[in-house]
Amino acid sequence: MRRRIKSCCSPSCRPPAGRRGLPVLLAALVLLSGCGGRKDDSLRIGTALYTQDDTFISTVAQNLEWMVREAESGTGNKITLFTADGKSSQSTQMDQVDRFLARGCDVLFVNLVDRTAAAVIADKAEAEGVPLIFFNRQPVAEDIQRWERIYYVGADARESGELQGKLVLDAWRADRETLDRSGDGILQYVMLEGEPGHQDSLLRTEYAVKAVTDGGVEVEKLANETANWNRAQAAARTAQWLEEFGEGIEVIFANNDDMALGAIDALADTPRDRWPLIVGVDATAPALEAVAAGQLYGTVHNDGRGQAQAMMDLALALWEGEEPAVELVEGHYIWLPYRAVTRENLEEFLEQ
Ligand code: BGC
Repeated sequence: MRRRIKSCCSPSCRPPAGRRGLPVLLAALVLLSGCGGRKDDSLRIGTALYTQDDTFISTVAQNLEWMVREAESGTGNKITLFTADGKSSQSTQMDQVDRFLARGCDVLFVNLVDRTAAAVIADKAEAEGVPLIFFNRQPVAEDIQRWERIYYVGADARESGELQGKLVLDAWRADRETLDRSGDGILQYVMLEGEPGHQDSLLRTEYAVKAVTDGGVEVEKLANETANWNRAQAAARTAQWLEEFGEGIEVIFANNDDMALGAIDALADTPRDRWPLIVGVDATAPALEAVAAGQLYGTVHNDGRGQAQAMMDLALALWEGEEPAVELVEGHYIWLPYRAVTRENLEEFLEQ
């Protein structure tokens, strides 16, 4: 028999907020029937997205939908996935989390708007005994450790920065003459950064450059600015930089593919042989096309499907009351690897 994740002795035995005040008799019956038994036949998952307008996040959400259907078809389970768009507002997301809990969701998937709001959501979930899986926007370790049923599924931001930097380093080593257009032996670059405060913006920015300098190449930063993961904002920043530095820009690092594509948009009127080298992160479908077209030198695959799969597997295991099949790092984390993508191994990713 399927068991719910809640344990009898935990506060999880409390009914969801919206249903408090049940007659005492009913509450006693619930207790007598054993908290280890499932509430009903269906698994309800509440997914809170920081915004649905984000290309990478929408692929994770789409993969979750597919995985739910797959998990249902194999087993006859009824799985309901409620998805809420936080529209980049933390207070909107808080209300959505409250509603998921009031509805009796069995597990929450939360893609925080503001990483510093994790503790409040963690405490709400713990009070209702509902396991909480954060993804993509990583809370600080203390927030993850607030309760044993809080998890984080994501990828190591530092690794993505290092792989991106390595792409540039390899390009420099393979064909320095072309890359070092000024011929001064120094790599001049601009950096399109994601949202301020996001672990991926901070660590990709730092480690991409570090991988190049660790490889013995001197660099000069011409400019850096946030474009908030956004293609149009990145196009506007790049257009300004092109006016300011012209062909002095040898490399454009973008913390994600949407911003790399924005840089490509800004270069539309520049003859291709005058373009700087551009690198992104994510390996979204349009970015892979840009790699195929030779516009984007390379990207780093951010495994959205793997992350969605890990979240679903963990949610199902918790619901079944089983040990998750994957080993949880420090009891709380599941990390998916990043992989570098260039024209050489592009086929592999196009097939996915
Ligand atoms: C992705 C970005 C995305 C961001 C949202 C990052 O991991 O690379 O494309 O916009 O997450 O939080």
